[in-house]
Amino acid sequence: MAILDKHKILETNATLLLIFSFLVVTIGGIVQMVPLYYLDSTIEKVEGMRPYTPLEMAGREIYIREGCYVCHSQMIRPMRDEVERYGHYSLAAESMYDHPFQWGSKRTGPDLARVGGRYSDEWHVAHLIDPQSVVPESVMPKYGFLMDRMIEPKYIADLMRTNRIVGVPYTDEMIASAEADFKAQADPDSDYDGLLERYGDKVQVRNFDGQPGISEMDALVAYLQMLGTLVDFSTFQPLPNR
Ligand code: HEC
Repeated sequence: MAILDKHKILETNATLLLIFSFLVVTIGGIVQMVPLYYLDSTIEKVEGMRPYTPLEMAGREIYIREGCYVCHSQMIRPMRDEVERYGHYSLAAESMYDHPFQWGSKRTGPDLARVGGRYSDEWHVAHLIDPQSVVPESVMPKYGFLMDRMIEPKYIADLMRTNRIVGVPYTDEMIASAEADFKAQADPDSDYDGLLERYGDKVQVRNFDGQPGISEMDALVAYLQMLGTLVDFSTFQPLPNR
């Protein structure tokens, strides 16, 4: 066929082949990308989502620093075995304030996307200090040193400002009160009304590690106890596909 013979011109001329390849990739790219611009949003808005409190944010940093994501995922897939074990499948909106996200790629331990509220603080503290004391067959390492490492919320406002640059809606007020909110959340005797006003009254205020002062254990347990608790799945209705 005549047109196929012409293909030889392309195949024997590197520059021409490059130009035509570029054309093909461009057209393919446009076909893939343009529809996205006509969607209002690729993330469905979901009631209950809020930015992390300063203490939870500090806990999240420790989670990342210690490499918890190497053994734990935070994404429940919409498959029956996962939903029955871990709860409602994860929504895109649930990690919308995560920079970077913690979906993970490997599960040596269980998924943690909905671990919040599943165990008591005491359980978490005992488990993190010595996992084998509560789950004898566990291969999880010990993190007892977190109890001895006290944290000053010196850099927490900077961290929130950085997150704001990438789109987390921290207000000026939240950033100005970062240190106070950080301390208030770990102390049930403090005046934490402002914290609840800024982040909602579902925020958990407790002495998470049960010892005086604010340790890295406090921050990490505050973060774990919040995971998956923001969206109320007894009332959540997914939007119909548009
Ligand atoms: C070497 C892999 C490994 C690392 C690293 C690891 N874990 Fe685990 N984790 C496990 C395994 C295995 C289990 C299941 C047995 C158990 O409960 O100890 C588990 C269980 C858990 C559970 C209980 C989950 C449930 O639903 O029962 C929590 C919470 C947890 N890990 C938190 C953490 C945190 C926080 C870190 C980082 C400070 C961490 N893990 C680091 C392997 C790991």
